[in-house]
Amino acid sequence: MIAVERPTRNLSLDLLRSTEAAALAASRWVGLGNKNDADQAAVDAMRLLLSTIPMRARVVIGEGEKDKAPMLYNGEELGSGEGPEVDIAVDPIEGTRLAASGQPGAISVIAAAERGGLFDPGPAFYAAKIVVGPEAKEAIDLTARPKENLRAIAKALGKQVRELTVFVLDKPRHARLIDQIRMAGARVSLYTDGDVAGALAAVLPDTGIDVLMGTGGTPEGVLAAVAVKALGGGMQMRLDPQSEEEHWSLAHHGYDIHRVYTLDELCPAEETHFAATGITEGPFLRGVRYRQHRAITHSLVIRGHTRTLRYIESHHHLDKLRALSGDLY
Ligand code: FBP
Repeated sequence: MIAVERPTRNLSLDLLRSTEAAALAASRWVGLGNKNDADQAAVDAMRLLLSTIPMRARVVIGEGEKDKAPMLYNGEELGSGEGPEVDIAVDPIEGTRLAASGQPGAISVIAAAERGGLFDPGPAFYAAKIVVGPEAKEAIDLTARPKENLRAIAKALGKQVRELTVFVLDKPRHARLIDQIRMAGARVSLYTDGDVAGALAAVLPDTGIDVLMGTGGTPEGVLAAVAVKALGGGMQMRLDPQSEEEHWSLAHHGYDIHRVYTLDELCPAEETHFAATGITEGPFLRGVRYRQHRAITHSLVIRGHTRTLRYIESHHHLDKLRALSGDLY
């Protein structure tokens, strides 16, 4: 007889309301050129919702240190004070510049794991990453050259290298990487920001992206790792300091910049929760859309324990929302 587990509360569905709220609040600032106010609106909305959730949460990846960002700071305790003890990683707007300039790819994102279940990026701002979907997870090796990775990934996917599309952040630091990918024969898809969305696009089917390569934020890497692991994809990461100060700070705190972190080191937890809501249009999530008296959000929710992936379209009645939350939305 199969041992049956009783279904338990799915925290991801509660967390979803916080990314929806952040996306709705941020959406009012889309295209207005003001990234700070957009970010603040998203932080306020997300925090309000998080305070209602039955959990004892501690922010481990947030908006920075307490004095620099007054809310969702690292170490802040959140939740109603009852329920499971979890560590939380948040980015109320991932792709703040994209949102402020009305470009595609901005999302609101949150991840939670059992206490101690997320890698601590400490003072590491930047990390080199490679991310693929489940079929190619055994094919990646961050210590190998892009050409070798692309050959192995293509083989695993049953494609030719020239049929692969690689998500790369469009940054000067990637000039050589972009050349190497093109020389290997693969296509490069350049995005100015948003490598959490890039990682999700590499793992989810039918997004037009087969692999993410390049250096982006370390906290964003940890956020992405939660989703990549729950979706059965492959990911490796190595700290990649971009300044003397960052180099020094990592050495001072005992981080090894040559070490390649596996997915299980980035996200040791099995009981994880992940939610993301589109702010502007993207390859797998729609942005916030407005209809008469309504706003429509599109989100994805993933639970690590069961590996359930849900896409959720919510229709929000703006009059009701404003009655509850004032002019946040
Ligand atoms: P924000 O969440 O701050 O908007 O980050 C956007 C982003 O593009 C991330 O997706 C990426 O990891 C990081 O910034 C790259 O940093 P930089 O723009 O300094 O190269």
